[in-house]
Amino acid sequence: MTLRAATRGDLDAIMALEESAFPTDAWSRTAMAAEIASPHGRYLVDDESGRVVGYGGVRAVVGAGDADIQTIALEADVRGAGRGRALLRALLDEARARRAQQVFLEVRADNPVAQRLYASEGFVEIARRPRYYQPDDVDAIIMQLNLPEPGADGKVDR
Ligand SMILES: CC(C)(COP(=O)(O)OP(=O)(O)OC[C@H]1O[C@@H](n2cnc3c(N)ncnc32)[C@H](O)[C@@H]1OP(=O)(O)O)[C@@H](O)C(=O)NCCC(=O)NCCS
Repeated sequence: MTLRAATRGDLDAIMALEESAFPTDAWSRTAMAAEIASPHGRYLVDDESGRVVGYGGVRAVVGAGDADIQTIALEADVRGAGRGRALLRALLDEARARRAQQVFLEVRADNPVAQRLYASEGFVEIARRPRYYQPDDVDAIIMQLNLPEPGADGKVDR
């Protein structure tokens, strides 16, 4: 497993994953291309010997203090082996590097696997948005993680 920065050349593979993981609410190719190119965040891919098997993105505007996990998804046949956690941790490292103190995300109420992953990394539910995901009519759970401030030596205590 190699995590590396996503490039425009990964767009086809990312869109294939996006459409298969989120069949009713996939992002458009145009929106995804803009996300990958944005200087205000970072997209990573999980590259297995040249095959993109996962991707994830974080938005973290330097100086804003907040970050958002935008998306994270893996090909079905590689799930459940720790890759999702590794990807999430890499995105959180990126948020820290951009000096975020709080990280937010939205997860579908009918996605217990993702909720468990986020909770096990310290995210807590702070709100619900009823019927947020349409046309499926599923609530969004909003979760938050507070990132520790770097110490005086510049290191982060974990
Ligand atoms: C959600 C997703 C990214 C998690 O990645 P993953 O590689 O499958 O998960 P990991 O193997 O890293 O496991 C992390 C934790 O997730 C939970 N989890 C993973 N697979 C699970 C399963 N089949 N049942 C219940 N919980 C599960 C567990 O809490 C696990 O921690 P543990 O191994 O210590 O028990 C991945 O399953 C996926 O791509 N799902 C489809 C897209 C999606 O739902 N994305 C999230 C949108 S918010």
